[in-house]
Amino acid sequence: MEKLYEGKAKILYPTEDPDVLLTIFKDDATAFNAQKKGQIQGKGAINCAISAALFRWLETLGIPTHYLDCPQNDQMLVKAVDIIPLEVVVRNIAAGSLCKQTGLKEGLVLGNPLVEFYLKDDALGDPLLTWERALLLGVTDEAGLQTLKDLALNINQHLQRFFAQCDITLVDFKLEFGGDRQGRIILADEISPDTCRLWDNTQTDPQARVLDKDRFRRDLGEIESAYQTVEKRVLSQIERL
Ligand code: C5P
Repeated sequence: MEKLYEGKAKILYPTEDPDVLLTIFKDDATAFNAQKKGQIQGKGAINCAISAALFRWLETLGIPTHYLDCPQNDQMLVKAVDIIPLEVVVRNIAAGSLCKQTGLKEGLVLGNPLVEFYLKDDALGDPLLTWERALLLGVTDEAGLQTLKDLALNINQHLQRFFAQCDITLVDFKLEFGGDRQGRIILADEISPDTCRLWDNTQTDPQARVLDKDRFRRDLGEIESAYQTVEKRVLSQIERL
């Protein structure tokens, strides 16, 4: 099958139905705009399973997503959408680039969740945008930007509560959205330890508590077992709901 698109963590293939695409989740891991490359054994299947479970659950709460089905453990059938070239980041606790760029101390609990828009453009290094710059670039209009912000905050409320029930703190995460054939904005991409910062509430040590891609970014080791822990807790919490 001819690839439609290959990203750092996923490959997209067309299907016989023009409204449906097949996503293959890869074990490849990259960080720092692909300057650091590696593999996380079993990551593709784990991220696919976590994303599928969360997408299915969010749908039941009225959040539209691109999820359709998982025909294999590292494969997801999704609705074809026109991806909006923005990375929508929601932060509950200061970490990562927020600390680097502002000097805020890692771990500071933010009074209100912070929503940020980054331009999806590898060549430019995915720059942080202001609201006005996003409008200037024409990636979406004012109403579209507001819808993205509202959806991101709504999803954050649901996910924060869900992860808390898994004994995990949702520090921050990145979402991507697309426009479907009906012109609706729907949640796309994935929600996984690659795209979220997740801290284990059962650990107090700041390195031991890291259950996400920061283990790879910061060479903390035990990456596979961290991803497996998230998968186990998410899937068993989904079963309890
Ligand atoms: O690096 P930064 O602190 O801005 O990342 C914020 C959140 O967005 C983190 O959870 C990170 O995993 C996620 N992210 C992502 N893909 C990117 C940039 C950030 O999933 N290209």
